[in-house]
Amino acid sequence: MAFNRLLRVPEAELLTLLYGEQHRCCTVPQPELQLVLSSEREIDLIELEQLCDAVGWSRRPLRRVRKALEHSLLRVGLWRHDPRVPKLVGFARCTGDGVVEATVWDVAVHPHYQGAGLGKALMRYVLERLQAMEVERVSLFADPGVVEFYAAQGWDLEPLDRRCAFWYAP
Ligand SMILES: CC(C)(COP(=O)(O)OP(=O)(O)OC[C@H]1O[C@@H](n2cnc3c(N)ncnc32)[C@H](O)[C@@H]1OP(=O)(O)O)[C@@H](O)C(=O)NCCC(=O)NCCS
Repeated sequence: MAFNRLLRVPEAELLTLLYGEQHRCCTVPQPELQLVLSSEREIDLIELEQLCDAVGWSRRPLRRVRKALEHSLLRVGLWRHDPRVPKLVGFARCTGDGVVEATVWDVAVHPHYQGAGLGKALMRYVLERLQAMEVERVSLFADPGVVEFYAAQGWDLEPLDRRCAFWYAP
């Protein structure tokens, strides 16, 4: 749809057009910022690479990243809403069978947006999407400095090295 026509679309409809039916708006302390979670909007590989650069992860070849995303069960983006160019500021993806098990990978929030509850909102949204698939058990491998981030959200830490964490559907 042409940009001028997009601007005339009512806000709620616009968000659905850009981010899909299942999108979720996040509340942040800065009222001028509109942040939206979506598992339906396509992830731009270059934007994802820039986000991974920003959190200090080493680069992976884009063709391999494309394949990894294609083979993932769930891809979630967090966008700073802008009707012209939404900007990817957070990401997580899951692999798994889509029925019983899933594993979360590549959880990141851009440093400019960290500390505002968005990482927590991102994880909540990931679990909601997995619950909608009726996945029973979710696992992840936390980086050592992030273990408490997951523990505080109720993930069960594997007792020995405390890096592997589990979440069970209620
Ligand atoms: C980990 C990460 C996703 C957290 O995102 P965020 O938006 O800053 O997190 P939130 O603001 O939602 O924080 C939620 C809570 O977790 C706490 N928290 C955030 N990062 C934490 C960390 N590394 N360790 C322990 N607690 C942490 C916050 O203090 C906050 O606590 P509160 O609820 O008591 O206020 C983000 O810091 C990030 O992208 N880091 C770099 C990439 C990375 O390490 N990813 C994880 C790989 S396993």
